[in-house]
Formats: sequence, structure tokens, C-alpha cells
Amino acid sequence: MIKYEQHDHIIYHGDALATLRSTIETASVDLIFVDPPYNIGKKFADFKDRWPSDAVYAEWAYAWIDECIRVLKPSGTMYLMTSTQAMPYLDLYIRERLTILSRIVWSYDSSGLQAKKYYGSMYEPMLHCVKDAKAYTFNVDDIRIAARTGAERKLIDYRGKVPKRYSTTKVPENVWHVPRVRYRMDEYEDHPAQKPQALLERIVRASSHAGDTVLDPFAGTFTTAAVAQAFGRKSISIESQAAYLKIGLRRVLGFETYQGECLARPVKNTRVRNGRGLKKAATTEDFCSVTDDGEQKALSGNTLLSDW
Ligand SMILES: C[S@@+](CC[C@H](N)C(=O)[O-])C[C@H]1O[C@@H](n2cnc3c(N)ncnc32)[C@H](O)[C@@H]1O
Repeated sequence: MIKYEQHDHIIYHGDALATLRSTIETASVDLIFVDPPYNIGKKFADFKDRWPSDAVYAEWAYAWIDECIRVLKPSGTMYLMTSTQAMPYLDLYIRERLTILSRIVWSYDSSGLQAKKYYGSMYEPMLHCVKDAKAYTFNVDDIRIAARTGAERKLIDYRGKVPKRYSTTKVPENVWHVPRVRYRMDEYEDHPAQKPQALLERIVRASSHAGDTVLDPFAGTFTTAAVAQAFGRKSISIESQAAYLKIGLRRVLGFETYQGECLARPVKNTRVRNGRGLKKAATTEDFCSVTDDGEQKALSGNTLLSDW
């Protein structure tokens, strides 16, 4: 396991369970976002997301769940995602150890055909759990959203003694409609399970304060840490795959190179056909220059939150 650190942000390149056990102190973390492999056969660089059975997957998950509970402060919060198939196992395990406040559905749309002989799955489940149901962080005013009745339809409630306007804002309920990250979106990184910044923004803002420590044991594209950083939180991330470590080093720690390789943002195919033929596609050279000592240097910066 290798540690990279810059100011208040730490990245571990290694196995989540081993790193949690050997490096993270008991009761030291305010907020955990866990988005592990789902046991659905995805390919994460050199790692294949498939366990021999549901039971073996659940046993593996129980081990890191125990560790997450250990490192969480008494006032801490954990959000946990997994596949719809695996969630019942983890829900049963967690509800005996933490208080599950909400069972959240992250719902999204797709223009593609999902299934022809059954209802295609268009959501992912997420648990919102706390150690102490009487003392946990929930910054309700930081995550309010527009309430249609009051904000858009401007209706008046005549049921009381005095008519009044419906509230223009409300606290989000447990069905979150957030678009998935698509190739042409600015926040896109080259990873098969990237979670949207908007999803993490709600979680980080609701369940932590500035200066708190946010942990993500399966960091992937490091969205959790990037959002934590943008909102003045500290972060600890763990990722086993070098291909994704590089995203974190660039996105969170601001590294421009890794072992001589330029850490530029993904180069997207921007070829568009128009009446005058093909426009030029972007290439790596558009984003990197070779410095005097031969090292490639990234020219592009991190995504700005104002881009969201
Ligand atoms: C579902 S993805 C996380 C995606 C992430 N939330 C995001 O928004 O990009 C799971 C990640 O866990 C990593 N991973 C798989 N096994 C791991 C392990 N034992 N320890 C640490 N990371 C692991 C995979 O490489 C993958 O990037």
C-alpha cells in the first residue's frame, strides 16, 4: 500500500480492507461514502467484479463494513451503495449495527433499450446510516431543493385560518433523480462506474461540516474526494487500481505526472461532421507538452465546481 498526501487530502493505493485495518484510526472519520464493486461482473482495469457466490460477496463486504463502523466517529454517518441484488444482505447486516435513517433510490434515465422481456433496472440503492440516531450531522438547509407546488406552480394553501403560499423549497426525499455521468459531460472520467458529482455534493453537504474528514474506501474516479475538497472537507481515499489512482492524483492532489506519464483529463473524441467535412479531433498533444527534462506536463486543470 502506498500513501500520497497533499495538505488535507490522502490517497492510498492498495486494498480497501487491508488499508482500513492497518492505517485508519478508530473513531476518526465523520462521513463515509462506500461504493464497492457490486458483484455484477464489471471490469475495473485489472480487477473483475465477480465473486463465487452472493454469500462469499456478502462475507467480503461484512469485513469492510465492520472496519467502516470502527473508524466512524460516534457522531458519524455512512452512505453505502451496492447492487439491488446484494443490498438485502448488507441491509440486514448493517441494521443490527447502525441506525438506517433512509433507504435511498438513485434513479436515472436512459435513452437505450434496457430489456425486452422484463422491466429494465434504472436505479441503484443506497443506505443512509448513522451510529447515533440522536446525534448526527444533517445540514438540512444546505441541501434544500425547489418544491414544485410553491416554487413553480405558486399555489396558495387555503386550508388554514389565513391563506398562505406553499413553501418554495423542501428537503429531498429518498428518491434522487440525478443523471448518470455520460461521455460528453465535463465531469466524465474514464471509469465504468463513475458516480455524479451532484450525488456526492448532496451527501457531503448534508452529512459533514467544513473541516470534517470524509472517507471513500473504493474511490474509483475520486469524485467523493474532489467534492469534499471543493467544500472544505478533508478526505481519505483508497483505490486498488493504478489506472484510477492516476485520476485521483490529478483530480485531488493536483499531480501533473505519474511515473513519467502525463496525467491529463480524458481526451474525448470531438469529431463532428458538418457540411465542410470532418472537424479535427482533440489529441493528447493538445493537453500535454514535453518539458525540458522529457517529462510530459499536463496543461489542463481540475474540473471546477462552477462547471456543474
Ligand atoms: C463502483 S467503483 C467506485 C466508483 C466511484 N464511487 C466513483 O464515483 O468513481 C469501485 C471501485 O473499487 C475499486 N476496487 C475494487 N476492489 C478494490 C479493493 N479491494 N480495494 C480498493 N479498491 C477496490 C475498483 O477499481 C473501482 O474503481
